[in-house]
Amino acid sequence: MTRGPNSEPWQRTATGANLLGADGTLGVTIFEEMTTLALSTGAINLGQGFPDEDGPAEIKDAAQAAIAAGANQYAPGKGIIELREAISLHQERFYGLTPDPQTEVIVTTGATEAIAAALLALVGPGDEVLTFEPFYDSYGAIIGLAGATHVTAPLLAPDFMPDLDALEAAFSDRTKVVLVNNPHNPTGAVFPREVLERVVALARRHDAVIVTDEVYEHLTFGPAHLPVAGLPGAADRTLTISSAGKTFSFTGWKIGWISGPEHLISAVRTVKQFLSYSSGTPFQSAIALGLGLPDEFYAGIADTLRLKRDILSEGLRAAGFDVFTPQGTYFVNVDTAPLGITDALDLARRLPELVGVAAIPVPVFCHAEGAERTRSLLRFAFCKRTSVLAEAAERLATLRGRL
Ligand SMILES: Cc1ncc(COP(=O)(O)O)c(C=O)c1O
Repeated sequence: MTRGPNSEPWQRTATGANLLGADGTLGVTIFEEMTTLALSTGAINLGQGFPDEDGPAEIKDAAQAAIAAGANQYAPGKGIIELREAISLHQERFYGLTPDPQTEVIVTTGATEAIAAALLALVGPGDEVLTFEPFYDSYGAIIGLAGATHVTAPLLAPDFMPDLDALEAAFSDRTKVVLVNNPHNPTGAVFPREVLERVVALARRHDAVIVTDEVYEHLTFGPAHLPVAGLPGAADRTLTISSAGKTFSFTGWKIGWISGPEHLISAVRTVKQFLSYSSGTPFQSAIALGLGLPDEFYAGIADTLRLKRDILSEGLRAAGFDVFTPQGTYFVNVDTAPLGITDALDLARRLPELVGVAAIPVPVFCHAEGAERTRSLLRFAFCKRTSVLAEAAERLATLRGRL
């Protein structure tokens, strides 16, 4: 377990990554640094996780039709009813959950805003927020902005499952929120029922709210996704977050949502109205249409992505890395140690020049202790065309000779 530093307000966006320059000015994140490096070297960018192909044409057409029809002014703060109903139906169709679209669902500007609004609504100085580590980078930043303390429980290679005793020890009487990300970015882990049930039991014991980030819910390669809110004892204390960006490959539209019991949702809405007030009007009806696409669409995205995972994983293995096969998300992690590398951040900075591929070092998703534990790990995104992944694999095959 680690506790993040108690920083000054101006430092609070630092997650252990290089968000702030040494002089306190806002620095670039490692994601931007790698994207800039990829552009300047012509490298294939497997760093930041966004697809290189758009999602379904009918969803795009629906957004264009909505713009043409004049859906261009503020949407209602909680989202258009058509989308809130579609989100509720989606939860019922896949998980048997039935959030009330009037009072238990709100549309947000991506999952990012849902995470921010939930944490800012629920925690403040003196409170602790517990996440697994490595953790998605916005978690550390928003916990810092809320003035709360970030406590982590480690996920350990090769399968990135938590040690349940360590998880239990990370809870305290100050734990206000346990923020679970499943399927998990950056590790690609999908947590089994026992882990999620333990989270629920511990949250109940400490009277903590569970915020669950399930943006990769449809991008899994093994058992079907298990939403935390569906587990016994969870519904009355769980806020569930998802996003159209990952499921439909429209990451630039920034349409997300959050559902849960009315008292928690109305707290989130109170904050959301002062963050963005409302979210992209013409995209909302288009995503409502997307959520209603037939089962074949959902099965298809997972199948396509599994194929891509396997192409890139094979290439990474052939390049000499130890590959940790992900069960979900569109990220694969490798250990660079078999190639004699001890510092993945250093390799990530050299990789575009060496072989023309960009990746993200896993330590940037950690506090200091976790960064040490994951020092030699790199994360590659495989949400790219198969031809691009095959080319990346070919380039990576030359790495050993260039080190
Ligand atoms: C775990 C996780 N949560 C949230 C987000 C952000 O989602 P959105 O683009 O909908 O804000 C991402 C995007 O990479 C993510 O990986």
